[in-house]
Amino acid sequence: MKVALKHGIYWVGAIDWNLRDFHGYTTRRGTTYNAYLVMGEKVALVDTVKAPFFEEMLSRIREIIDPAKIEYLIVNHVEMDHSGSLPLLKQALPHIKVFCSPRAEEELRLHYGKDLALSILKTGDVLDLGGKSLTFVETPMVHWPDSMVTYVREDKVLLPNDAFGQHIASTERFDDELGFDCILPEATKYYANIVMPYGAQVLKALDALKGIEIDVIGPSHGIIWRKHIPDIAATYEKWAKGEAEKKALIVYDTMWGSTEKMARAIYQGLTEEGIPARMYRLSTSDKSDIVTEVLETRGLLLGSPTINNGLFPKVAEFATYIKGLRPKGRISAAFGSYGWGGGAVKALVAELQASGMEMAEELQVKFVPDREALSACEELGKRVARKIKGS
Ligand SMILES: Cc1cc2nc3c(=O)[nH]c(=O)nc-3n(C[C@H](O)[C@H](O)[C@H](O)COP(=O)(O)O)c2cc1C
Ligand SMILES: [Fe+2]
Ligand SMILES: [Fe+2]
Repeated sequence: MKVALKHGIYWVGAIDWNLRDFHGYTTRRGTTYNAYLVMGEKVALVDTVKAPFFEEMLSRIREIIDPAKIEYLIVNHVEMDHSGSLPLLKQALPHIKVFCSPRAEEELRLHYGKDLALSILKTGDVLDLGGKSLTFVETPMVHWPDSMVTYVREDKVLLPNDAFGQHIASTERFDDELGFDCILPEATKYYANIVMPYGAQVLKALDALKGIEIDVIGPSHGIIWRKHIPDIAATYEKWAKGEAEKKALIVYDTMWGSTEKMARAIYQGLTEEGIPARMYRLSTSDKSDIVTEVLETRGLLLGSPTINNGLFPKVAEFATYIKGLRPKGRISAAFGSYGWGGGAVKALVAELQASGMEMAEELQVKFVPDREALSACEELGKRVARKIKGS
């Protein structure tokens, strides 16, 4: 079945129904790798698919044209979920001319060999296909330094690679077929886990796109946008600015239940002050799901028992993950139970500060918290709640 974005622009990607782990991000609904065929008098392929899906892409191309007619390959992004089929494509079509951004040149050679012939495209460059043209805008760090977007001016089609993506495998290809409410949770999870550190760059990219008319956005993962473009653009802007709701997340783990008791008392304090809160124990929850909620939540309270002088490994993993994602403008607290020398709360404070969060509170309790210790936890929850309300 041919999937046309506009006349002469086709989706020729692959559907990865069974992917459940994308470098640590749990992809419960699988994903797609979207490649696009743009057919003027000359034919260009924009991006490829992950290497094991090369044949799937090729068979979709064959439904539309003889692959030998493709003259150009545009590499919007070097990451292997999109460039992975490059060596197989070059084998099948030795004449193909490969284009990429200036930052991608070295990166592509480091992936596929130093002899790879490449032509470089900078922001504002135009590749005329005859009847259709491709314009390029570099968008560094959305997702890698090499990232750029391709725009087909004649058809108002934007192919922004990782931006605006979602990990969804489905029969439906377009947002009006699947519905915004069904796509939004995956778009949110994708932004939180992949794009969150690059809010400043996203705002810059959104600004650059404001002057451009766009009918269709074809990202490199998931559903293609054509009905809800203003909705997803406004949502990206909100996320990129770090806007969050006056709510809190309590994320912790525990060996013998003491840190959990603290967490429950803190929850009590937060909610009594009118701040809705949710609790997640890390050994039974998935970090990529929790981070999805961090994206839209002002307060993040982390708890860890001390084990061998330091953080519980599951909490350390989460703290490392959050530090890399750098959520903006969050209010934070660290808590935990210890037995003798302690160490976990101190380590948590250091991690949270390194994440750029405002450290509002810290509290550690020796062994099992008694009534007095629990009321101290409740008070901590109330103080954090007031900070959140005032933010
Ligand atoms: C394997 C293990 C190692 C521990 N190592 C330390 C430690 O190095 N320093 C310390 O202060 N407490 C240590 N403790 C004590 C715990 O921090 C203490 O039992 C705490 O109350 C556990 O909190 P939890 O019930 O939330 O798991 C250790 C406990 C266990 C089970
Ligand atoms: Fe990427
Ligand atoms: Fe990607």
